[in-house]
Amino acid sequence: MKAQNMSETYKRDQGPSLEIKDVTYEYVSEHSERTRIFEDINFDIAKREFVSVMGTSGCGKSTLLNIIAGFLPCTSGEVLVSGEPITAPGPDRAMVLQKPALFPWFTALKNVLFGPTALGFDKETSYRQAVELLREVGLAGYENNLPHELSGGMQHRVALARTLAIKAPVLLMDEPFAALDAQTRQSMQDLLLRVWENHQSTVFFVTHDIEEALLLSDRVVILKGRPARIVEIINSPFVRPRESELILDPTFVELRGRIRSLLR
Ligand SMILES: Nc1ncnc2c1ncn2[C@@H]1O[C@H](COP(=O)(O)OP(=O)(O)O)[C@@H](O)[C@H]1O
Ligand SMILES: [Mg+2]
Repeated sequence: MKAQNMSETYKRDQGPSLEIKDVTYEYVSEHSERTRIFEDINFDIAKREFVSVMGTSGCGKSTLLNIIAGFLPCTSGEVLVSGEPITAPGPDRAMVLQKPALFPWFTALKNVLFGPTALGFDKETSYRQAVELLREVGLAGYENNLPHELSGGMQHRVALARTLAIKAPVLLMDEPFAALDAQTRQSMQDLLLRVWENHQSTVFFVTHDIEEALLLSDRVVILKGRPARIVEIINSPFVRPRESELILDPTFVELRGRIRSLLR
């Protein structure tokens, strides 16, 4: 497998999509004790870059994602999206969670159309694009099915199509595949890579699965400690499109070992 330094350079040229500057987060407990979860978090994500974040449970990955989403203010520092400081949630950042959380009384198509309708996008275009998105995630023919009529994996596909429908330039994903069985997870990873290459969004992806991080990402940010800090940012230098056989590549095995020992 050839290392790809290209991806770094062309992405860097497009400027940052997300800038995380000196971000620190503390909360105050009922007994007025301050607990610092993480501190001095600094990194940029280029436009169309795919960055994963890893770290032990409780180190603040979801908290960081919620700060970027605008659901939670950080204690100090700031986050910029396309150069603008974040003050609230916005349609420029879409969040994908572990549970697909579809509206149970809406068909697959109506679930996908929900965001575009709420945002006032053109009706006819949105309809055409929703049908196309469902096709893209492998669900042509299931437009009129209700979520309970679909398998868990299919519901995740609808959720992905629904997220893509709002055309947010930034996708924030919090362990989206963690609850899936190995086979479904692999097919969702393949699907995510394909749609990400088509839509070219910026992705910030939380995972506790080292192989998933290396397979999907351009870079992997490693958080560690209490309070957590960035201990290393690892490049995943493999050419795209990537196949799951990549996990047998010697460089892949070496990087996996390195991340494993960093997380220990
Ligand atoms: N406002 C709060 N009150 C109490 N605990 C909090 C608060 N905010 C964050 N925490 C704690 O901070 C830690 C980080 O949580 P989280 O971001 O979910 O970590 P991760 O996603 O890496 O597992 C957890 O131990 C959580 O309980
Ligand atoms: Mg979490």
